[in-house]
Amino acid sequence: MSNLKDKVVLMTGASSGIGEGTAKELSDNGAKLVLAARREERLQELTDEINQNGGDAVYKVTDVTSREQLQELAQKALDQYGRIDVLVNNAGLMPLSFMDKLKIDEWDKMVDVNIKGVLYGVAAVLPTMREQKAGHIINISSVAGHTVGPGMSVYSGTKHAVRTITEGLRQEEALAESNIRTTIISPGAVATELQETITDEDVLQGLKSSNMTPIQSKDIASTIRYAIEQPEEVAINEILVRPTSQQG
Ligand SMILES: NC(=O)c1ccc[n+]([C@@H]2O[C@H](COP(=O)([O-])OP(=O)(O)OC[C@H]3O[C@@H](n4cnc5c(N)ncnc54)[C@H](OP(=O)(O)O)[C@@H]3O)[C@@H](O)[C@H]2O)c1
Repeated sequence: MSNLKDKVVLMTGASSGIGEGTAKELSDNGAKLVLAARREERLQELTDEINQNGGDAVYKVTDVTSREQLQELAQKALDQYGRIDVLVNNAGLMPLSFMDKLKIDEWDKMVDVNIKGVLYGVAAVLPTMREQKAGHIINISSVAGHTVGPGMSVYSGTKHAVRTITEGLRQEEALAESNIRTTIISPGAVATELQETITDEDVLQGLKSSNMTPIQSKDIASTIRYAIEQPEEVAINEILVRPTSQQG
């Protein structure tokens, strides 16, 4: 039987792309899901689909820039299922731009969602996982969390931060012998709605000239499943997943 069976998984950014694909993959393998994002219609549709297919999912409209809303999300999982086994901190934005365009509101949003949203997610589940003496926190970084290039300064900075925070958390939880696992997943180019937040025409032009074929959300979903399915004493701490044709 899959090690995923009946695990309670909280997933942020579940309304599209990698989050949606991962929710389906984990549900198909027996996980119970608490799905979060801002677009309620999408969450409702996904939850209905999962439940109609014999899965077990609920959703809560959640903006990850709100500490309170993430606390309420964790409470929903406890009220519904009595425990929290896995948090997938997946919500993220990527409005790439050259810094001289001074798109400061977009910088703020990336810091708020990509970094603070991840921190608030950790804060919402850590006390419960400590009490359970079990848990798994999976943070979605990026290949951009390992590198940087023109137009990617702030986004890369946020994704580097996700990796640093996760590695620090890993060391602290190992020190505390809390039995909490951490995993950093760093996708390369995946075909999702992520690029829709880009407003810098120069960045968009550059992306159009790339002839790389992105991989699919299901490819990241199966990687996340692999990390969760390991025996409790085995922590997959970090994985990069790129399209074979991706150079940087
Ligand atoms: N696609 C790629 O090539 C790629 C590569 C590397 C890393 N990643 C990372 O993968 C993660 C998922 O992205 P994706 O590619 O699947 O893109 P996506 O389809 O645009 O999904 C992003 C998700 O984040 C949610 N979100 C955004 N702001 C939010 C907020 N304030 N509160 C709650 N949820 C919020 C969105 O839901 P709502 O709008 O409904 O709130 C959506 O569900 C991100 O962290 C991204 O940085 C993606």
